Formats: sequence, C-alpha cells, structure tokens
Amino acid sequence: MTYWKVAHGIRFTAMPSFGKALEDRQLWQLTLFLKHMDGLPPAPERVWKAVKSEATSSS
Ligand code: HEM
Repeated sequence: MTYWKVAHGIRFTAMPSFGKALEDRQLWQLTLFLKHMDGLPPAPERVWKAVKSEATSSS
C-alpha cells in the first residue's frame, strides 16, 4: 500500500507521485525505508536525519 501511495500520490491532497521520478527498485527501497524508519538502530538513524532538505538547506 505504501509503494502504491508513493508511486501514484494521493488524490486531493498535496501528496505528489514519484512513479515517474524514481525507478521501480528505488520505489521499493523507499517503501522498505518508510516501513522501518521508526525503529532503526542509532547509526542509520543518524545518517538519514543528517540528510539536508533541499527546501531548507542554503547553498
Ligand atoms: C520523500 C518524499 C515523500 C514520500 C516518500 C512520501 C510518502 C508518503 C506516504 C507513504 C504517505 C501515506 C502515509 C500513510 O499511509 O499513512 C504520504 C501521505 C501524504 N503525503 Fe507524502 N510523501 C512525500 C512527499 C510529500 C510532499 C512533498 C507532500 C506535500 C507537500 C506530501 C504530502 C502528503 C500528504 C498531504 C499526505 C496525507 C494524505 C492523506 O491524508 O491521505 N508528501 N506520503
């Protein structure tokens, strides 16, 4: 279900679709990440939390 939502977006919300921007393998990787992101060990947790958002990073 998460894969479908990421690939197609959610109608009548701001949630966009990523099905054309990402390869199928990337969509599944993202799906798995979303499923487990609230229970990751500290090291991978730190890595993804350190990723800067394009919207907020300045350069
Ligand atoms: C990395 C980018 C993104 C990913 C991986 C992603 C993924 C998801 C997923 C999996 C859901 C469903 C959550 C659930 O089933 O409970 C969701 C919902 C939603 N997303 Fe995104 N999303 C992204 C970016 C965005 C952006 C850029 C927006 C808008 C600016 C957005 C707006 C929404 C909204 C409004 C919902 C809730 C829709 C509802 O209430 O049914 N998302 N997103």
